[in-house]
Amino acid sequence: MFENGKYIINDKKFKIFISKEEISQIVNNLAAKITNDYQNKEIIFVLTLKGSLFFAADLIRQIPLDCSIEVISAKSYGSEMETSGNVKIVNLLPEIENKHVLIIEDIVDSGLTIQTLFDKISISKPASLSAVTLLSKPSMRKVEVDVQYVGKDIPPEFVIGYGLDFDEKGRQLPDIYVLDSE
Ligand code: IMP
Repeated sequence: MFENGKYIINDKKFKIFISKEEISQIVNNLAAKITNDYQNKEIIFVLTLKGSLFFAADLIRQIPLDCSIEVISAKSYGSEMETSGNVKIVNLLPEIENKHVLIIEDIVDSGLTIQTLFDKISISKPASLSAVTLLSKPSMRKVEVDVQYVGKDIPPEFVIGYGLDFDEKGRQLPDIYVLDSE
């Protein structure tokens, strides 16, 4: 629900942080880099639901290369704003041996989710395994992870919109909002 330009979820107020125009620019830049790096390769995009839904849809449609799309669910947050550190991964991937796998994440925070994904997927021996994330909070890392494509580094604040949720709400917002500390 909107009230005086702020979006309210469970009594918490969120204010605009990254406009849809800026998001679009970030996605264009990432798509151009990935297209350049994966020339003549076929990519298996692995979407991490639900947060990367809109980001992945916008990104993949701007990469004019052969690809297939798989989805997995990775869950580490409940209704809280801090990562639980306990990453659950649901869904199995098809045969990926000798294929180029690119994980699409919405946001990398502690790094535990992406590290768990790297560990699990690399067991199946892909030809390459990389990740793209729309947002990253580098100061929140609990583990060092090498995310090859980062759209934008942000401070350690909680954000919603463009697929990102708080307690399953706010994903539908076209812009990204940040928790308002006022
Ligand atoms: P990590 O495992 O701590 O790196 O967290 C990654 C996951 O936590 C992301 O895929 C999101 O689903 C969720 N997450 C981290 N930060 C935020 C945030 O600011 N807003 C909403 N979800 C977040």
